[in-house]
Amino acid sequence: MTIDLSSPLAAILPDPLASLTAQPADALLGLIALHRADPRPGKIDLGVGVFRDDSGRTPVMHSVKAAEARLIDTQDSKSYLGAEGDVAYTEALAAVVFGGHASHDRLTGVQTPGGTGALRLGAELLARANRAARVWIGTPTWPNHGPIFAEAGLETRSHRFFDPITASIDFAAMIEDLAEARAGDVLLLHGCCHNPTGVSFSRDQWRALADLCAARGLIPFVDLAYQGLGDGLTDDAAATRMIFDALPTALLAYSCDKNFGLYRDRVGALWVQSSSAATAGSVRSNVLTLARSLWSMPPDHGAALVRIILEDETLRAQWEAELNVMRARINGLRQALAAADSRLSTIAAQRGMFAMLPLSTNAIATLREDHGIYMAPNGRINIAGLHTETVPTFVQALLPHLDAAEEAR
Ligand SMILES: Cc1ncc(COP(=O)(O)O)c(C=O)c1O
Repeated sequence: MTIDLSSPLAAILPDPLASLTAQPADALLGLIALHRADPRPGKIDLGVGVFRDDSGRTPVMHSVKAAEARLIDTQDSKSYLGAEGDVAYTEALAAVVFGGHASHDRLTGVQTPGGTGALRLGAELLARANRAARVWIGTPTWPNHGPIFAEAGLETRSHRFFDPITASIDFAAMIEDLAEARAGDVLLLHGCCHNPTGVSFSRDQWRALADLCAARGLIPFVDLAYQGLGDGLTDDAAATRMIFDALPTALLAYSCDKNFGLYRDRVGALWVQSSSAATAGSVRSNVLTLARSLWSMPPDHGAALVRIILEDETLRAQWEAELNVMRARINGLRQALAAADSRLSTIAAQRGMFAMLPLSTNAIATLREDHGIYMAPNGRINIAGLHTETVPTFVQALLPHLDAAEEAR
């Protein structure tokens, strides 16, 4: 049936969607379009958060290609798997994430569409368990964190943790802000490689956060999206493991999209640890019913590749070697930036793909317009977008703006 929009009836019926207000476009996606349209050969893209190799590409990893060939050869059905996704994938991944701490009857894990899906599923579970829970999120953070929890119906609260002047952790400010947290509230924590700041809590600070959660009845929700891209697979999981050892109840949203380079294939997992096996059983049933209404079943392809890689000794060694090269590239660029000027020295000790520069909106626009240097509107740079050869050009363009920022203070 077609509706005649010029009919008098159409004119008097209110448009039920007219109440929607237009939403601002995603700033980073806008940046991709601007960068693409820029004809300057020396342009530098530090905006989008994907790994780039020496030639500026985000290639499919060799281990992933090999797993893909094997999957195509051996897969004999594409029938539904179920809301939990590929159970062997989640089990193999749990060993990478939790090490020897992986297998106990209070821990339940399911496959999700990326880390985003894991965060949303966890948020829905928390909201179903306790609508009054508030989610404490450090400022700055990945811009999607706030909306994910808010859309699940949870109130979000901000806390300080980062000093932009020294580009380091301000732990005292964080503890001061968290004094307002109530029992049952949720504390969102980046497991490693903080996005966007690159800063990490020390081991003692992690321990203090675990103690705070235990003493105040807060639920830690760890977001681990970059395991292996900071200090290595084991070191990058250390804080997560400590939190899960120290507290009866904890959640983990995991992404394989960066460390396996599977971005568009949407590969992630959610783990929930409960205080008893009985609670874990009802948690699992709730997670599965929520997943069923959100996406029914997660996409299989990428998770099947991760399973194939992790279950095969040779492919796994190849993946780890490739991940080591990615990490070494990022950390090498961090060293090069820090060595280029003392004002960038903090970048060497930071980890992951990102760092935050204390730049004004004007400075960020000038760098883009005059030098073809693209970065996120908050001054976040993707270190992997650089090359040892472009570091000097970048730093030269940057320094006057860092001087101006310093003078403005
Ligand atoms: C901190 C953080 N968490 C979660 C995600 C989501 O990852 P995915 O692409 O797997 O949904 C990202 C992606 O940029 C991120 O930076």
